[in-house]
Amino acid sequence: MSPHLLLPERPSPGPESLATYRARGGYTGLLQAQQKGAAWLRSEVATSLLRGRGGAAFPTARKWELAAAATADQKFVVANGGEHEPGSHKDRYLVEHHAHAVLEGLALAGVATGATHGYLYLIEDMHGPRAAAEQALREATAAGLLPFPITIHLGPTTYVAGEETAALNAIEGKPAKPRKKPPFPGEVGLFGKPTTINNTETLAHVAWIARHGGAAFAAIGTAESKGTLLFTLPGGEHGVQRPGVYERPFGTTWRQLLDGAGGGMVPGRTLRALLPAMSSAFLSAQHLDVPIAYETLRPLGTSPGCGGIRLVTDATDTVAMAVEIAEFFMKEQCGQCPPCRMETNQFVHILKAVQQKKGPGYDDKIQKLAEFSRKKGFCSLIEMAAAPVVSAVKLFADDFAKAAGPAQPTDA
Ligand SMILES: Cc1cc2nc3c(=O)[nH]c(=O)nc-3n(C[C@H](O)[C@H](O)[C@H](O)COP(=O)(O)O)c2cc1C
Ligand code: SF4
Repeated sequence: MSPHLLLPERPSPGPESLATYRARGGYTGLLQAQQKGAAWLRSEVATSLLRGRGGAAFPTARKWELAAAATADQKFVVANGGEHEPGSHKDRYLVEHHAHAVLEGLALAGVATGATHGYLYLIEDMHGPRAAAEQALREATAAGLLPFPITIHLGPTTYVAGEETAALNAIEGKPAKPRKKPPFPGEVGLFGKPTTINNTETLAHVAWIARHGGAAFAAIGTAESKGTLLFTLPGGEHGVQRPGVYERPFGTTWRQLLDGAGGGMVPGRTLRALLPAMSSAFLSAQHLDVPIAYETLRPLGTSPGCGGIRLVTDATDTVAMAVEIAEFFMKEQCGQCPPCRMETNQFVHILKAVQQKKGPGYDDKIQKLAEFSRKKGFCSLIEMAAAPVVSAVKLFADDFAKAAGPAQPTDA
């Protein structure tokens, strides 16, 4: 039986009201944290071993230390719901259906770090989540539950606007482009003040941890990967029979997720590989029985990312898929860092040459470009763009070789 920390076992359609959230213990964690204090809350979250669900899996308690230790007249907390990664819908789903859990988590992050103001950061096209969040905010404010004011801010509909410092710039009314780090937001964040920014799913987990304790959370999952994770399973011709957002504990295998939750592949399709998230590396179908955890996926060169899964079937044109992914990153990079511009443009150029049957040599070029570019950007998009491309060329080597054709004759 899968534990239900974020999504109730029997989800009701539409946004969860304050009354319904309270009936399942909502806001009792916040009350407890206000009574027991910030140090208690930070210690519970440290015990839980919670890691961020925005993709980078950074330990939440460690992130909070920076802002908690800082002295300032104002401090901020931000819930990052800037989800714009193709195939991922979990933050939108969470905010639209369980906005109170996100607001409680945001308030808790603020209590833990001494914040004076909170922001829920969404994207302009998120109409349902925005309406649900506004309603929840009205309810929680009227009930006097929030320890400080919370503002909903809508960022632009770009991928990079979800990067944490790009989100801070957007809230400040500046172009939503990542900042150079250090300094990190915990020291110099929103309006120059210490700021803690967490993914909305991370914060909903914090609400559960404050209610049930860090040890209860750490008891779920695997040795290094604790609690549950939200996954988005795709539909369509390369999807599962029951697409949607699912909550499963770490340690669940890919097969259990795809067959159990997703109802298996659509009829007539055989799974060849999967991409755990657009910004991660492909995993061959021979690893379907690997439990999903940071420590099991790391040796396989990939990670759970934000759980927006893409499936590769016997009918997928893997070269065209790699071109599509590379084009996405080329269009979405923000142009600030020359190595990122160069890398993402070159990936597309090299992959298109494969499609145009221009012969071998593409794999070496892609590998070298990825190595050259590593850590040369203000944000990790530069590495995120490389992961699926490098791994596609390796995993689907035969498809690429066939598409590229033989070496081209050189002019005498
Ligand atoms: C290009 C790019 C896009 C990102 N988009 C998101 C996003 O939509 N939502 C999110 O929570 N984190 C996103 N991140 C990660 C954030 O920068 C940050 O790590 C995260 O919000 C921290 O929260 P967490 O520690 O709770 O995971 C993105 C990062 C990059 C480089
Ligand atoms: S690495 Fe790429 S996306 Fe990130 S700031 Fe630099 S140019 Fe923009």
